[in-house]
Amino acid sequence: MQGYRLSVHNLPQEVEERELDGSAVAVIDVLRATSTICQALASSAREVVPFIEIDEALAAANRAGRENVVLGGERRGLLIEGFDLGNSPAEYTASAILGRPVFITTTNGTRALQHARFAKNVVAASFLNLSAVVASLKNEPQIDILCAGTDGSETSEDILLAGAIVHKLMSGDSSHWTANENAKAARSEWKKIAADSEANDKTLHQLVTSSLNASLGGQNCIEAGNGSDNLYCAQVDLLHVVPRLNLREWKITAS
Ligand code: MLT
Repeated sequence: MQGYRLSVHNLPQEVEERELDGSAVAVIDVLRATSTICQALASSAREVVPFIEIDEALAAANRAGRENVVLGGERRGLLIEGFDLGNSPAEYTASAILGRPVFITTTNGTRALQHARFAKNVVAASFLNLSAVVASLKNEPQIDILCAGTDGSETSEDILLAGAIVHKLMSGDSSHWTANENAKAARSEWKKIAADSEANDKTLHQLVTSSLNASLGGQNCIEAGNGSDNLYCAQVDLLHVVPRLNLREWKITAS
């Protein structure tokens, strides 16, 4: 098993869209787009369709019959006027979704998904579905982990999750992986959390929550009154769903 390549990109701008051609891409926006997409599918959304612009999402919802879809997302962390749900994963319950498709538009997360549109395949990753995503990637020879960041800035919560994915993929026999510098640095960040958990008898949930609270994305959530989402999105392996983007039909379904 020679020549497996594992790269972390701390921001979408760090990699050209066409360079992702042929790769399996994991898109990360821990706070909160990819966590919310995982939760929506785990709560039986038929599919999640990501949109860049609010108008596009509204127009598509009207075409589908407004009552037949759930419109969700955020701008500046807040509910968008005329939308059904914001971008808090906890809002995406089975009773709110009722098996309908979710049309979602967020500031950074849905853009990061768009950036991966030439990839071989694309999954949405969060702490909520960490192990499920790793299992789905482990036989892929070329993996790119794409962090959404926040408004063009790197965010440590995305990089921490990237490190957790790298660590899980490389643990055991890692000799066949060639990891880029970002992947090695991200892995070190995650290993500090894992070591702290063992040494100080703190749960991963406590430690990941502290990291999210201190991160740029986490601070944004707190300022917008969404601080409880940091706690929610820090739950490792709560869900077993792998949201996979169908690149031809442009919709995300559970696999
Ligand atoms: C984003 O896509 O930028 C985030 O999901 C922001 C948020 O949820 O507040």
